[in-house]
Amino acid sequence: MRSRLSRISAAAGGRRAAASQSAGRKLSGWFIAVEGGDGAGKSTQIDALTAWLRKRGFDVVTTREPGATVLGAKLREILLHAKDREPVSARAEALLFAADRADHVEKVVRPALERGAIVLTDRHVDSSIAYQSGGRGLDAADIAALSAFATDGLRPDLVILLDVDPAVAWERSQARGDAPDRLEAEPAEFHARVREMFRSRAAAEPSRYIVVDAGEPAGVVTGIIEDRLEKVLPLSAREVAEAEAREKALREAREAEQREQEARLAAERAEAEQEAERRRAEQEERRRAEERRREEERKARERREAEERARLDREKAEQQRRAEADERAAKVREEEDRRQVEADAEQRRQSELAVRQAEARARGQAREQATRELEERAESEARTARLVEAARRLREASASADAADSETTAVLPVTQGPDKPGDNGHYDDDEDDDDDDDVPRSRWRLGNLGKRKS
Ligand code: TYD
Repeated sequence: MRSRLSRISAAAGGRRAAASQSAGRKLSGWFIAVEGGDGAGKSTQIDALTAWLRKRGFDVVTTREPGATVLGAKLREILLHAKDREPVSARAEALLFAADRADHVEKVVRPALERGAIVLTDRHVDSSIAYQSGGRGLDAADIAALSAFATDGLRPDLVILLDVDPAVAWERSQARGDAPDRLEAEPAEFHARVREMFRSRAAAEPSRYIVVDAGEPAGVVTGIIEDRLEKVLPLSAREVAEAEAREKALREAREAEQREQEARLAAERAEAEQEAERRRAEQEERRRAEERRREEERKARERREAEERARLDREKAEQQRRAEADERAAKVREEEDRRQVEADAEQRRQSELAVRQAEARARGQAREQATRELEERAESEARTARLVEAARRLREASASADAADSETTAVLPVTQGPDKPGDNGHYDDDEDDDDDDDVPRSRWRLGNLGKRKS
């Protein structure tokens, strides 16, 4: 459809260019001239084309030269059928044909083109050039200029040339029983020149000519012409309307299809979005479940850790408690040990003290005994100086020994004993006394005796 519309547009553009070139003003119709030698079958083809074009919806005006107007009819009569009159000179013939053309174009062709019709004319300028120049020998440029003057520059948009051998055309004419007009009656050479002029003009401007072999059967010729016209003619108003209607229907169908496709795509998108939303929701639910699971795991772990810490704290407290108990027990034991040691030491001291006291008492008793014996001896043996002196020295020795004893026994009170301490409050427990027991004890007894006496 699109290519056809483009072709129509292009063809219409071409037509408008041609019309503009020829007439200096735009004509909306199409001007087609059907040309050819006598007996080429123009009338038959014009009838067929007219029917075909009208069937397609075109406004078709069929006309002819010469004789389409009142003046034209009179001129035709003069030009073709004035056998009994004086022959028309070639230039007069050319002028008469031009006069017919001028009246024809002004009264028939141009008005039809202006209203947009397709004008199909049986003969036009090319016939003048072919017959009056090619046939009669007049200057082709003069004939063309004459026609241009007659048409005010209007030229056919398209020329369909039905090319046929003049001999064949002659036979056809004879077969139909037509009486030849003045030009048809011209000799074969004349018609040969006419044919050549037609052909040379078509060859010189092929874009504006459709040359068809008119020796073919009429139906074949019609088909060929229709094919060629199909390629260059614009669409008729009806065809344009139909094409527009088809295009509109096609456009609407495409739009409907597009809407349907868009609706389908929108539905698919919506479905996809729903699916995506459902997946997102599932994913979110899985994520939340995972979070809850991790949270529960974390709490459980924290509970376990708290329990473990509590257990460790309990163990630690228990250990501490045990350690403290052990420490307390150790201290108790240590205290008990210390007390035991002290008690043992005390006991030992007491025992030693008892021993020493016993020894001191014994020594005191011994010394007392010795003293008494000495005193008794001194008293009894008449107090000699030597003995006194000895007693004095012994008393001095005894005083020293008492001092030593006093230091040893100072910590323990002497509560009882057979002997009283000396002046210094101490007993003499000198172990060395054992060695010289007799002498020191004797000396002590003497000293003590002396002291007591003094
Ligand atoms: P016509 O009766 O139209 O018959 P046909 O076209 O079928 O031959 O004949 C018109 C004759 O006029 C024809 O022989 C050609 C001639 N003629 C010219 O010589 N010069 C012209 O300019 C035109 C239009 C026609």
